[in-house]
Amino acid sequence: MSQTLHPHSPYSLAFNANELSARWIKVVESEVPELEHRPVYQLRFEFACAKKVKSARVRATAQGQYQLFINGVKIGDEELTPGSTDYGVQIAVQTFPVANLVDKNAIVILLGDGWFRSVMGAFKQPNNFGTHVAALAQLEITYEDGSTEVVSTNKNWRVGTSHITSGDLILGQNEDRRLINIATYKAGFDDSNWVHPEEISVDAVLVAQFAPPVRRTEEIVPVTVKRISKDVQVVDLGQNINGWMRLLDLGPSGTEITLIHGEVLDASGDVTLDHLRLDLPGIGRPDAGQIDKVISAGTPGDFFEPQFTTHGFQYISVIDHPKDLTPKDLIGVVVHSDLKKTGWFESNDARLNWLHEATVWSLRDNMCDVPTDCPTRERAGWTGDWQIFAPTAAYLFDVNDFSRKWLADVVVGQREDGAVPNIAPPDFTGSFKGPMAHINASAGWGDAIIAVPLAMYEEYGDTRALEECFDAAEKWINFGLHRSKTQRHPDREKLRPVAAAHEEFLWDTPYHWGEWLEPGVDTTDFGVLLTADRADVATPYLHRSAKQMVIAGKILGKPESVLEHYRKVAENTKNAWQKEFITSDGLLNPDTQAHYVRALDFGLAPDELHTKFVNRLVELVRAAGTHLGTGFLTTPYLLPVLADNGHLDLAFELLFQDTPPSWLGMRNRGATTVWELWEGIDKDGKAFASLNHYSKGAVISFLHRYIAGLVATKPAYQEFVVQPKMHTDITHVNTRHITKYGEISVAWKLDGKAFTLKVTAPQGTSGKAILPDGSEHVIKVGTNTFTC
Ligand code: BGC
Repeated sequence: MSQTLHPHSPYSLAFNANELSARWIKVVESEVPELEHRPVYQLRFEFACAKKVKSARVRATAQGQYQLFINGVKIGDEELTPGSTDYGVQIAVQTFPVANLVDKNAIVILLGDGWFRSVMGAFKQPNNFGTHVAALAQLEITYEDGSTEVVSTNKNWRVGTSHITSGDLILGQNEDRRLINIATYKAGFDDSNWVHPEEISVDAVLVAQFAPPVRRTEEIVPVTVKRISKDVQVVDLGQNINGWMRLLDLGPSGTEITLIHGEVLDASGDVTLDHLRLDLPGIGRPDAGQIDKVISAGTPGDFFEPQFTTHGFQYISVIDHPKDLTPKDLIGVVVHSDLKKTGWFESNDARLNWLHEATVWSLRDNMCDVPTDCPTRERAGWTGDWQIFAPTAAYLFDVNDFSRKWLADVVVGQREDGAVPNIAPPDFTGSFKGPMAHINASAGWGDAIIAVPLAMYEEYGDTRALEECFDAAEKWINFGLHRSKTQRHPDREKLRPVAAAHEEFLWDTPYHWGEWLEPGVDTTDFGVLLTADRADVATPYLHRSAKQMVIAGKILGKPESVLEHYRKVAENTKNAWQKEFITSDGLLNPDTQAHYVRALDFGLAPDELHTKFVNRLVELVRAAGTHLGTGFLTTPYLLPVLADNGHLDLAFELLFQDTPPSWLGMRNRGATTVWELWEGIDKDGKAFASLNHYSKGAVISFLHRYIAGLVATKPAYQEFVVQPKMHTDITHVNTRHITKYGEISVAWKLDGKAFTLKVTAPQGTSGKAILPDGSEHVIKVGTNTFTC
């Protein structure tokens, strides 16, 4: 049965399948090859252009990953096409202009596994969307005389293998460059002994790509290359990136070189991948992958640059290279969605600059067609991660279409009953069809379905993501309400055999990840993890999402009855949370930093207890030796909650804290990206979990909004306030942000006691500056200077 697009899909430019005469062609494999033995195939066809060509374009896509060549030239500069998507439902089609047609032409598609059948996720499961790769391409030629011709994939094409003997997005790429035959890319090659593909029909809807493509965005020259043993040389790029290495010297023909990519070195100075191998129930510790192998053809000037894989790495172990390598022999190639940069921050304080830079890098490393958790271990589009980070990301890059594309997969991944997958596009862990279905639909994760669209509206003033997700968000809230009403956590049943009235709005049934990764809390016991009662986290999210539905409903002009419904849900969930978690002495149970931060940020604290909650939060921070104790979900709100409630000084103390757990603790241990755990590298230099997870970096919004002081008070910064928050160590700060109206720049400096603020505002905006002396000033279009 053929799929249909979701009614509010952003893919409004869906192709009418009839518009394409091309047929899907599948590579026939007698059996599904073993991992690391799955070649990148060549699909080829020759054709003549009898007349003079005026213009041509090609439209192409794949169930797998493809690169398209015409007469030996790669068409387009996109990477990893057609990208990460729910291949069972919607597959993006790329359109490229073609300018190199001649009388006799050869079209070649290199076809590998890509997201379609590479291993993905913590469990490293392959074949997430199918077992056999296929491609579709349609070349449309317009001749000078106005006539047209179409050349497209069909069963008459030929299929052979290529020099890429395997290509897996996580495991790595193997090449035997001796197998390269340039002639196969040109017309006149005899491919009669190659096999034919099989024409197949594909149910997924073909959609026009609208999100920015993945490209190579930067090249990095290594800082050092060290030989650590007879066979091993270790390369340090000085920066943890997502992408691959270009190796410029391959040695004599037949030289076999291995490149192992990792984020950290072990005690012997070699790359280790140990910290990236999770211990999983029933599975053990799957290999981390990230290993490329190349056999040299000995051709002068030849180089190796794998493009059917990507890795998260700073260090590379180069094994068995015959010569002593220097930084001139290799280049790190940074690969990610090519998004427009829109936000900058810089100050006199190197610590803050580091924090900003490391977070921007983590973001870049994790925007690989979809927002991922990390570019290494899982490479998965975890909903919670983008729920946390999207508002920060939206300041730094234009992530509107990037987010809308991903949300389209979140929406189609939603289960009939409203449950939202933890991961989109789905993999083994994120799918409702697979054996891990029960760990999905976690609060704080599924809430991305409303939190992310709202963040897009606030940043860009664009209502489309909200329109596209509103119905799905309604289903999500109904799911939470239904679970709250119909199910009780076994622990609560034991504690209170007869349910209290408020429990109807208490969301306590698994599965929820909870606050997740608070310092000192062990999350490795899967038994506990899968059964714990997390109503203290889930209920607040139901509350906040209901409030966000009221805001979204107003923006979209929904009837008052709808708004009223969500107001009531917000009220009832708040009441349930208060009844359940506020103790008789007016504190919270659990009595954790995260719980107070969430209560204060989500507006759950009763007025009369507000100050008490703030004071208790301060006490808990002090009791931890002025260290934060928050995990995944509340870390972004900790400093704002303190600053907004009279404890700006403490917020700064935490920001500048440099013993773990802290942000600067990562800097002291050499991080160039933000870690998943507060102690991603312990005092002995041993690494744990991913070293490239952006979520904790969401704190840099504090740099933009509090330290630089730029806050939008109307969507897209149509109205804004600039109110810098001062600290003795900070003497100058500037931030720039490109809004829908143009660039806003804020720069302030403190010279002795003289404070100067410069704000540049674009046409269409209006702003207000509040200086440290409390004086208020109107910001006019153009450049404004204020002093005090
Ligand atoms: C991922 C996270 C994700 C989490 C769920 C981890 O393995 O890397 O970023 O959100 O699981 O708690």
